Amino acid sequence: MKFGYFNDENKEYVITRPDTPYPWINYLGSQAYFSLLSNTAGGYSFYKDASKLRITRYRYNNIPHDVGGKYYYLFEDGEYWSPTWAPVKRELDKYECRHGLGYSKITGEYNDINTEILYFVPENANCEIHRLKIKNNSNRKRSLKLFSFIEFCLWNAFDDMTNFQRNFSTGEVEVEGATIYHKTEYRERRNHYAFFTVNSEIDGFDTDRESFMGLYNGFHEPAVVKNGQSSNSLANGWSPIASHSINMDLEAGEEKSFIFQLGFIENKKAEKWSAPGIINKTKAYQLMRDFDNDKKVDKAFRELKDSWESLLDNYQLKSGDEKLDRMVSIWNQYQCMVTYNLSRSASYFESGISRGMGFRDSNQDLIGIVHMIPERARQRILDLAATQFEDGSAYHQFEPLNKKGNDAIGSGFNDDPLWLILGTASYLKETGDFDFLNQKVPFNNGKEAVLFDHLKASFMYIVNNRGPHDLPLIGHADWNDCLNLSCFSDKPGESFQVLSNKEDSQAESVMIAGMFITFAPDYIEICRQRGEEELAREAQNYVEEMKEAIKKHGVDENWFLRAYDYYGKKVGSVENEEGQLYIEPQGFCIMGGIGLEDGLARTVLDSVKDRLDTDYGLVLVDPTYKSYHIELGEISSYPPGYKENGGIFCHNNPWIMIAETMIGRGDQAFEYYKKIAPAYLEEISEVHKTEPYVYAQMIAGRDAATHGEAKNSWLTGTAAWNFAAITQWILGIRADFNGLKIDPCIPKNWDGFEVKRVFRGDIFKIKVNNPEHVSKGVREIKVDGTRINGNLLPVYQDGGEHDIEVIMG
Ligand code: BGC
Ligand code: NOJ
Repeated sequence: MKFGYFNDENKEYVITRPDTPYPWINYLGSQAYFSLLSNTAGGYSFYKDASKLRITRYRYNNIPHDVGGKYYYLFEDGEYWSPTWAPVKRELDKYECRHGLGYSKITGEYNDINTEILYFVPENANCEIHRLKIKNNSNRKRSLKLFSFIEFCLWNAFDDMTNFQRNFSTGEVEVEGATIYHKTEYRERRNHYAFFTVNSEIDGFDTDRESFMGLYNGFHEPAVVKNGQSSNSLANGWSPIASHSINMDLEAGEEKSFIFQLGFIENKKAEKWSAPGIINKTKAYQLMRDFDNDKKVDKAFRELKDSWESLLDNYQLKSGDEKLDRMVSIWNQYQCMVTYNLSRSASYFESGISRGMGFRDSNQDLIGIVHMIPERARQRILDLAATQFEDGSAYHQFEPLNKKGNDAIGSGFNDDPLWLILGTASYLKETGDFDFLNQKVPFNNGKEAVLFDHLKASFMYIVNNRGPHDLPLIGHADWNDCLNLSCFSDKPGESFQVLSNKEDSQAESVMIAGMFITFAPDYIEICRQRGEEELAREAQNYVEEMKEAIKKHGVDENWFLRAYDYYGKKVGSVENEEGQLYIEPQGFCIMGGIGLEDGLARTVLDSVKDRLDTDYGLVLVDPTYKSYHIELGEISSYPPGYKENGGIFCHNNPWIMIAETMIGRGDQAFEYYKKIAPAYLEEISEVHKTEPYVYAQMIAGRDAATHGEAKNSWLTGTAAWNFAAITQWILGIRADFNGLKIDPCIPKNWDGFEVKRVFRGDIFKIKVNNPEHVSKGVREIKVDGTRINGNLLPVYQDGGEHDIEVIMG
């Protein structure tokens, strides 16, 4: 069942009824000011850091789920409604929500009054615009009252939720004309505040929540709206809000437009101590002037659209399969960008409070965006590297505001260092900017280093931390956060979370071994490019050692083992009763090249298909854990079929897709791709539940009662990895250090496809033909009519357009 449809021309998903199976959200803003917005106008805003600079309040675990947002109410003759359906939920005659790239447009019509609200964050501005167009579609004059509503958060989102004894006395506002300022904490910090304004005269306002709502009313029946009369309340403590009221007459057919603006002002330096808490409004006035009429708003909106157009233009696909095209050309790239911006911090599944930017997460996110915003990728790599320790290990997370490592979580995830090699290599391949490696970026202890030293430290961390089987020590966990082999308690009744890492743990990860041999060739090539032959040779020896260790100690009967636990027992083996086959090492060991010659890869991938494949994707482990295994950590704390305990982790399905392309099985790779790609799941939205335009981290697995139901949409490494799998390995167009590689592995029945790829300033128009209906193999490539040798398009960097004709066979 569908709840809307894709409009590819506008690059929108159009939701046609408000009661979607879960709130279907969108993200506004992509630099500093962000806003989450659901299809019924729920959500919240923040500046840079959802935890420390929360602009509006949101309540989690609410009933109903999505309560609190950017609400508007219309009132006429004692009756009132919300044009976004929620929160009043009066049935609308027409409803539509168009989620586009960086904006949403929600339209609701009631009793011939049509209201369209365009929500967006203009480029490079710390504010969001809500432009309401209210039109009288009836043939008589109408008298309406419009009420706006947002609720301020007292900045620190955790404190806001917990420290009422203080918060209820700190709230301060100021009203000046149509502008409501929120200046709580200005008294002490003197550098930031927010405001909510409208480009019109107002007839009333409210800033005190209880005065607006009534103490016993919910969002669906604010007292002020019920009475059709603002109370002009001034908040002193308690919960500051901002609401305007505007009375209007609309002639038959008349339309009026109102521009509401929610802005955040940061004065660079704290103002001088000035006891009365008087805010400096200069910047606010400027920001208001920037968007105070329709012309300016139209222009800003066009700029936003153009900016997305040009970002996406770097990779455009025409395959003849509209679902695939919209995934690759629009939505997957969009999700990669949002995920890159926010890491795993703020979504409808992440509170925005507990997690900052992940070291592993953010490095992986780079592979999804580096072709669009290489300069920003560059900065992110430096920020990440700066949180690395001298021995190569890294803070698992850092805070976006101060860019400091998070001490509460610390380090000890032994896969973390390797992701920096992936992230940096992706950047270098995209840009050819090898000079970047000489960029100074100190280690966390302040010791001077250049970026290349960080890569070396990453690589050597794995080498220096190997266990009894010469495989990498797992530490607290590797990619699988829930396989915690080194940090459980021996005491009955205590959980795995009680102890931090057992210092003496020798638990080892075959997955990290697989990652090591997968990313090592890039590291080695980087050494070579720098003329570090000796280092490169040494590294190659370590790779051979690791490959030997995998072959000797990392292979089970028909697949790769997952790990050795604290006691040296195998994990992910036929010897285990539960948890025999894990997905992660299968993908990585094959990507690292093991088993490609001797048929092992094929056997392994057949086992994967046989044991892990379901209608909705590949489960993470089989059989799932039915009983609790404290020595394995968090994994078996989940009921069978959920999350890491045999859920379908969309994040690691692409590793198998890539492995399939490495053995040339394009049909299988693409089948796995389609199973989890959201556009292909649109028709079963009632089962899948989360947005049909973005990936979710996890779909309930075979053993779950709700098999097929997705959770944790938006912020997940799934976005970047699926983008890599489809664009780089299935369509096979991937940036390499010295050019653009063309190496498709597609379903045999495809006749071909076309890709526009902007690479190092040149436009490559690539036409792949598949006359013999093969999956893999490139017979001939012509660049601008001239045949080239091999399948690497050279770097021209002439800023020109090049026609590439590829014949498979
Ligand atoms: C989840 C993981 C997540 C981790 C980190 C675990 O409970 O299952 O998917 O990465 O928490 O917060
Ligand atoms: C989510 C985390 O963000 C990611 O880093 C991790 O690898 C997966 N969970 C699997 O546990």
